[in-house]
Amino acid sequence: MRDGKPDRGALASSLLLDWYDRNARVMPWRIGPQDRAGGRRPDPYHVWLSEVMLQQTTVAAVRDYFRRFTARWPTVQTLAAAEDEQVMAEWAGLGYYARARNLLKCARAVAALGGFPATRDGLLALPGIGPYTASAIAAIAFDEAATVVDGNVERVVARLFAIETPLPRAKQELTRLAATLTPQERPGDHAQAMMDLGATICTPRNPTCALCPLSSLCDARAAGIAAQLPRKAPKAKKPTRLGTLWLARQGDLWLVETRPERGLLGGMIGFPGDDWDGAGGPAPLHADWETVGEVRHTFTHFHLILTILSAETTAPPERGTFSRISPAALPTLFRKAFDLAASRPRPST
Ligand code: ADE
Repeated sequence: MRDGKPDRGALASSLLLDWYDRNARVMPWRIGPQDRAGGRRPDPYHVWLSEVMLQQTTVAAVRDYFRRFTARWPTVQTLAAAEDEQVMAEWAGLGYYARARNLLKCARAVAALGGFPATRDGLLALPGIGPYTASAIAAIAFDEAATVVDGNVERVVARLFAIETPLPRAKQELTRLAATLTPQERPGDHAQAMMDLGATICTPRNPTCALCPLSSLCDARAAGIAAQLPRKAPKAKKPTRLGTLWLARQGDLWLVETRPERGLLGGMIGFPGDDWDGAGGPAPLHADWETVGEVRHTFTHFHLILTILSAETTAPPERGTFSRISPAALPTLFRKAFDLAASRPRPST
């Protein structure tokens, strides 16, 4: 008996696993249910790397990054031995750059231990691994009956149990209810099945309840409110910040600087800017600056509109260095600015 409903969790999990056996999405880091049944085990390094990449980023965007990372660094030991700048450059475009710095810290701690700890508690002690990632690795790679709760799982559970408390207040309750579904057998497949169900059927808008393996058990469907759940507390509106970037060029060289470790885009290569607080600031060198356009970008807590100034110059810089750059190694925001400035006609000599 759980939550007054006999074995509802066990029934839900068994229906879900049957559905997963037929409908699991194919992903480069995943061992599908048939291969898993045949005894193949997921590589904890692959599970860890994919879960870190998938935080705040879509499966579609992560696929190619995952393939490139694992081709270049096939083991956690090889990643641990990589240069910081190489990893930051390979991460460019994925966003949330603190994740890449923590990734390296964690890889080095794991390499020092001789491999990934095989329990949720052991994983939690690693730098940069929180409850979500520890549970995901423990369940998927090590078959521990840990409960994995991401946004997809919260939505599935809120609907299954018709929880009307808005997020984020409902988080604890949803985690507790999600745990009532986690089976002792195949907890990793169960976790991935919950995520796949949330991503493909129990979607935020217009859920396809007619195809859902859990529809007969779903309280929200019975009440006709599936599409309205989970309820969410209204979000604070994001402020808009204004700033400037200076793109100075000497032939094929561009003036760049490495951003401070702490703070936005920390540790990444970027073009000099002001403080992005609307107050302006001194240019990094004296030149005949020309406005070439603006770039808009949205971060977690604010929108940013940057005016892009460009100049071809031989003046010595007061900050940064003129370097040959690889556009692919730039964070998206700087890449947009680079594309604007680089597409300008050059002054004829
Ligand atoms: N999103 C995050 N991790 C995932 C996984 N292992 N499977 C599917 N979607 C995911």
